[in-house]
Amino acid sequence: MKFNRICVLGGSGFVGSAIVQMLAAQGREVRVLTRNRDRAKALTVLPTVDVVEVDIHDQVELNRQFAGMDAVINLVGVLHEIRVSRVDKPSARRGDFHENHVELPRKVLHACATNGIQRVLHMSALGADPTSRSAYQRSKGVGEALMRESGMPSSENERWYLDGPKFVHGYGMYTTIFRPSVIFGRGDSFLSMFAGLIKWLPVIPLANAGARFQPVWVDDVARAFVNALDESVTFGMTYDVCGPKVYTLQELVEFVAGTIGKHPRIIPLCAKLSYLQAWALELTPGKKLMTRDNYFAMQVDNVCSGQYPAPVDMQPAALEAVAAEYLGGATPRGRYTAFRHHAGR
Ligand SMILES: NC(=O)c1ccc[n+]([C@@H]2O[C@H](COP(=O)([O-])OP(=O)(O)OC[C@H]3O[C@@H](n4cnc5c(N)ncnc54)[C@H](OP(=O)(O)O)[C@@H]3O)[C@@H](O)[C@H]2O)c1
Repeated sequence: MKFNRICVLGGSGFVGSAIVQMLAAQGREVRVLTRNRDRAKALTVLPTVDVVEVDIHDQVELNRQFAGMDAVINLVGVLHEIRVSRVDKPSARRGDFHENHVELPRKVLHACATNGIQRVLHMSALGADPTSRSAYQRSKGVGEALMRESGMPSSENERWYLDGPKFVHGYGMYTTIFRPSVIFGRGDSFLSMFAGLIKWLPVIPLANAGARFQPVWVDDVARAFVNALDESVTFGMTYDVCGPKVYTLQELVEFVAGTIGKHPRIIPLCAKLSYLQAWALELTPGKKLMTRDNYFAMQVDNVCSGQYPAPVDMQPAALEAVAAEYLGGATPRGRYTAFRHHAGR
């Protein structure tokens, strides 16, 4: 089975851009839906890619945009949910978890059913769990469950498609769900954020220093999606996506520091101070470095447990082999360290 016309939601983002570029390189027709065409400017030059500015939360619009497509990739995700004060809508939030991680997948499934699309690839996250203490992970867990249940060719489906205009009893979606650990690569927000901090701070008080991650390269994640697209063995499957090695947060920060040629003093904080730091950072205006929800998410190891199989043919790249190249450019000393790393010296 070959899926040639793919609609991508979240295609302008860090992971999405990598996926769209790989799909385009294979000559597939890609329709990227975005809130702002300027954000996806780099993709507009790709010959088989069409970037459409649209409100993806509008069901009618989504139904219209899915017309003529063979498959859908949903990558939309928000890491922080911030309350905003609006007189007309007291519950308004910037980056609403429920709207983006639960309601949107529901609308995606509905629009697929409306257009007779059966193939959906969905981006979840390692740790996604409807019972998690973290609202991010809870909402991701519920969205993931919705997607998984849509693949059941049984009356279970009726719950989600009852109001779908083309609902057919037993309509089974071919879903594949990916649950990556933290993703690194040029343009990432995690390691690059630490690189930015380390450049200026001689001392880093580090919350959750012992939290464990298994970082995976963005190109490996993109390849997992693109390779899975036509593979029927991936239909109905959920995959944990990890790199080859587990690191504590402190080890990752030390790695970033070494790569850019800096030696800050890293002070691991106890649980209470970690929580207070997360709270304080949550209250600071502008871009959030951390929130209490991130603190809760980090209480559970973000590593592959073997609960789900690894994606087919995945040979993940080591952090050391990739990150030095894009982090190393941050300072002249860092470029030298990256060069030495590459040269194996
Ligand atoms: N990066 C990681 O380490 C990591 C790890 C595990 C899982 N994930 C998951 O992977 C997915 C992609 O992550 P990423 O790092 O590539 O994120 P990203 O760069 O922030 O991209 C997120 C995309 O989602 C869309 N989006 C965000 N808020 C939206 C909203 N309110 N309404 C509509 N669209 C919205 C954006 O589209 P437009 O701005 O074009 O509208 C953007 O293209 C997410 O689902 C994330 O949860 C990421």
